[in-house]
Amino acid sequence: MADWWDADGARHRKQFSTSAAAREHEHRETALAHAERASREMKLAARTGGDKKARTETVTGTGANGTIEPAKGKLGVMIPGMGAVATTFVAGVEAIRKGLAKPIGSLTQMGTVRLGKRTEGRTPKIKEFVPLATLDDLVFTGWDIFEDNMYEAASHAGVLDQRLLDQLKPFLSSITPRSAVFDHNYVKKIDGPNVKKGKTKMDLAEQLRHDIRDFKKTSGASRLITMWCGSTESFIEPTEAHQSVKAFEKALRENDELIAPSMIYAYASLMEGVPFANGAPNLTVDLPVMLELSRKNEAPICGKDFKTGQTLMKTVLAPAFKARMLGLNGWFSTNILGNRDGEVLDDPGSFKTKEESKLSVLEHILQPDLYPELYGNMYHKVRINYYPPRGDNKEGWDNIDIFGWLGYPMQIKVDFLCRDSILAAPIVLDLVLLVDLAKRCSELRGLGIQEWLSFYFKSPMTPPGLYPEHDLFIQLMKLKNTLRHLKGEELITHLGLEYYD
Ligand SMILES: NC(=O)c1ccc[n+]([C@@H]2O[C@H](COP(=O)([O-])OP(=O)(O)OC[C@H]3O[C@@H](n4cnc5c(N)ncnc54)[C@H](O)[C@@H]3O)[C@@H](O)[C@H]2O)c1
Repeated sequence: MADWWDADGARHRKQFSTSAAAREHEHRETALAHAERASREMKLAARTGGDKKARTETVTGTGANGTIEPAKGKLGVMIPGMGAVATTFVAGVEAIRKGLAKPIGSLTQMGTVRLGKRTEGRTPKIKEFVPLATLDDLVFTGWDIFEDNMYEAASHAGVLDQRLLDQLKPFLSSITPRSAVFDHNYVKKIDGPNVKKGKTKMDLAEQLRHDIRDFKKTSGASRLITMWCGSTESFIEPTEAHQSVKAFEKALRENDELIAPSMIYAYASLMEGVPFANGAPNLTVDLPVMLELSRKNEAPICGKDFKTGQTLMKTVLAPAFKARMLGLNGWFSTNILGNRDGEVLDDPGSFKTKEESKLSVLEHILQPDLYPELYGNMYHKVRINYYPPRGDNKEGWDNIDIFGWLGYPMQIKVDFLCRDSILAAPIVLDLVLLVDLAKRCSELRGLGIQEWLSFYFKSPMTPPGLYPEHDLFIQLMKLKNTLRHLKGEELITHLGLEYYD
């Protein structure tokens, strides 16, 4: 005879042949009872609209939440860095608008979201479920240190067929770069003529703010977003100057050398109330000063570093090993790529920034502290090699040494012959549309960091003290549950007991 208590504190008795069977039953029943209780609480919260406390404490969400302004008028997309990713994105949007191609890889354009029970058959497209800007609403501008317009820059990047680019030539040629805020010390491998001049970094920020206002006026956009697609800057760590708006503004006026150009774009955007998404691994908005500004001006921020090829694979495979309690001795990742990004990353300072971003993933997913026998001794190495003949068509190799039952070793080899910018462009599109959605949501726009967009990043931003979620499928669930939450739909926990009542 054994006793067990359910989540509501009620006592139950049952006869078992062994004490092990009794213990196992107790564990299972207790877990089920807790899960059922969580589900009941969620349903209740959804019905009652939920109070703020329940929302922050249970992480399970509530009923209809806040208001979402409609996506009226044009959405202006401002891109510092008109290189391979930016041009592949803009040319792609135009090709799709002209009916020449499909938005493959874009969750906002092709993805669906299940609502309610599996038996209800409600699965709208995401773009029909929440009010997103349409592709026809998008207008573009950009900044770059080179003077090439988008047609020339896309031709130079060599990602898309010249035949396709020629069909889009009038449109792409019309997008010319504004002069950039640039500092060669932060990107050592390139230099260009199209650069702003100013006595202080504050002067440069003012010039960017002027560009932003000018674009809003001339394009007729009702809303704006800044999307950093510029080169990876040299590695730096936050200092006193990055801790508050006051300290940062003083540092801008004093030309503090630890203020990188990307931070000046971020400051200018947030001061104008414009959201900022960071596609590179630079600190940029991952700083207290930017969080403060973002919250104050209700301009959402997110980053960092698009999750495209090798890291995408890593955040799919590593959770599978952990789910099956398979151990990991080592993971060696190497890449060859020959585009300008590859050239920039050939500099040790820029590589260090990228390396930090790529390395953080495994530690967080595998949690060696919790599973020392499985992951306590893993060796993780990442290499990027600049190899011009490959252009944008990167090759990423992974050698993974795992071990299983009784410690027997096994190996997995991944050879991903990918196209960097083809993987990045749909991410840029989704981020543009979803960050704009966040700006129109009363519940999201004042939060600062948009953690629900972690799905798109190698190194997702979180507030201090909170570790990031790297597992791709947890990130996807977080994103879709956020959309359900905003629309007052029940969150999906995948518990599923109700089907067997
Ligand atoms: N392609 C991918 O799969 C991928 C994945 C993750 C992150 N990223 C990051 O996205 C960024 C863009 O990648 P890309 O392949 O387009 O690189 P790219 O070299 O083709 O383009 C970057 C552009 O930024 C410009 N630039 C540099 N500093 C600038 C500044 N201060 N102001 C304005 N322009 C500036 C450069 O002149 C260049 O044209 C890089 O930081 C890269 O690391 C790319």
